[in-house]
Parts: sequence; structure tokens; C-alpha cells
Amino acid sequence: MLNRRGLALFPKDTLEHRIARAICEAECLPRKEFFEAWHMARRVRRRMRGGRIFDLAAGHGVLGAIMLLLDDTSPEVICLDRRRPASHARVLSALVDHWPRLAGRVRYVEDDISTLDDWPTAAAPGAGDLIVSAHACGVLTDHILDRAAHAGARVAVLPCCHDRETCPVPAFAPWMAVDLAIDAARVVRLESEGYAVRVQQIPAEITPKNRLILAERPSAG
Ligand SMILES: C[S@@+](CC[C@H](N)C(=O)[O-])C[C@H]1O[C@@H](n2cnc3c(N)ncnc32)[C@H](O)[C@@H]1O
Repeated sequence: MLNRRGLALFPKDTLEHRIARAICEAECLPRKEFFEAWHMARRVRRRMRGGRIFDLAAGHGVLGAIMLLLDDTSPEVICLDRRRPASHARVLSALVDHWPRLAGRVRYVEDDISTLDDWPTAAAPGAGDLIVSAHACGVLTDHILDRAAHAGARVAVLPCCHDRETCPVPAFAPWMAVDLAIDAARVVRLESEGYAVRVQQIPAEITPKNRLILAERPSAG
């Protein structure tokens, strides 16, 4: 857990350390969540600027907030999760204290991604928007890719909890570890849907579930 005792771990005047210190003041975010969000957001923002940010399976919504801090040309962040954690408001308020420009630009919607008929935000993602999701478990990542492909939106996911019972398992799975096969099939699927795909990794010491898939349609953005 990042708390005030951890402030000394982040002494630098870098954006990473400034965000970490703000989150330490909130005293509710697991340390790992911050590092995953930071490393994912940095890599995504190097390639994908602007657009509204949709942080799906958002949990505390830290990924979306960091995306906005890294590129203020995005107008807003829409976090969606079936359950908004009680401490989301606490983390956001700690960040707004340090970056008042975030105020009013992060919305949170409680809904189920897999059964969502329509975006309850009255603002469905479109081709210029950017869907991000860190550790949407198992087939939830595939539902998120479905949403992105339907909208033609840019998308970046860091999959986890690869489950051979529910995730689409490709025919080539016996040649390799099943989690790798499932992620490779996701890349192939996105390419077949007209996306240009890049794959990267965040540091394995932060999480072993570290494969990052970034995809955008060549005409988007
Ligand atoms: C492992 S957590 C990841 C949270 C956050 N993205 C992070 O990186 O810390 C998975 C999240 O998915 C959410 N979730 C699971 N199934 C969902 C569904 N069907 N629709 C929306 N959210 C869902 C959970 O509530 C949880 O917050």
C-alpha cells in the first residue's frame, strides 16, 4: 500500500515521483497498481496522443488519470467498472489537489462491460478516442477489444488471468504457453480487423502479466 510512510521512496521532481507522492497521501492504493498504471500509460502515450480516454475495468481509475496528466490534450477520462471502489474518490481528490486541471474531467460509470447494451455516458467511444485497460481479467480483455473494434477506437490492453475455459484459445496453443497463445491470437484478431498493432512489455519485476498490446486503425487519430 502506498501511504505517507512511503513518501521518502519518491524524492525526485519527476512526474512519476510527484504522482506517487500524491497517491501516497491518499493512503489507499496498492503499490503495484500505481507502477503498472504508470509504466503502461507512459508507453501508450508515446504512441497515442489526444482523444477521450476510456479506462475500462478501471478499478481506482489511476491509469486514466495518469493518461490525462501525461497528455492534457485529451478532454476527459471516462472510467467504467462494474463496481466503483470506495477509495476511487480519495485517489482522485489527492491528484486534483496537486493538478487542479483534472477537476471535472474524470467521470466514473458503474456498469458491466460484457452486457453493456449502450454506453450510459451518452458519449460512446468513437474513432478518435482511446480505450485503455490494465488487467481486465480473462475474457474481459476480449470484450474490451470487441468494444474498441466496434467503435473503431484506438485501444491498449495489458491482459491478465488468461483462462482457457473462457478466453478464445487458438489452434496453435499447444505449441506454446497458453497465455502467450491467447495474447498472440488477440494480436492476429486485431490485425484481421484492420488494426495496426504494436506489442511491448512493461517491466516483469512490476508484474509477470506484462504484455502490452497497442492497436490503432491507420486512418484513426
Ligand atoms: C484486476 S482488476 C484491475 C483494475 C485496474 N484496471 C487496475 O489495473 O488496477 C479488474 C477490474 O475489472 C472489474 N470487472 C470485472 N468484471 C467486469 C465487468 N464484467 N464489467 C466491468 N468491470 C468488470 C473489476 O471490478 C475490477 O475492478
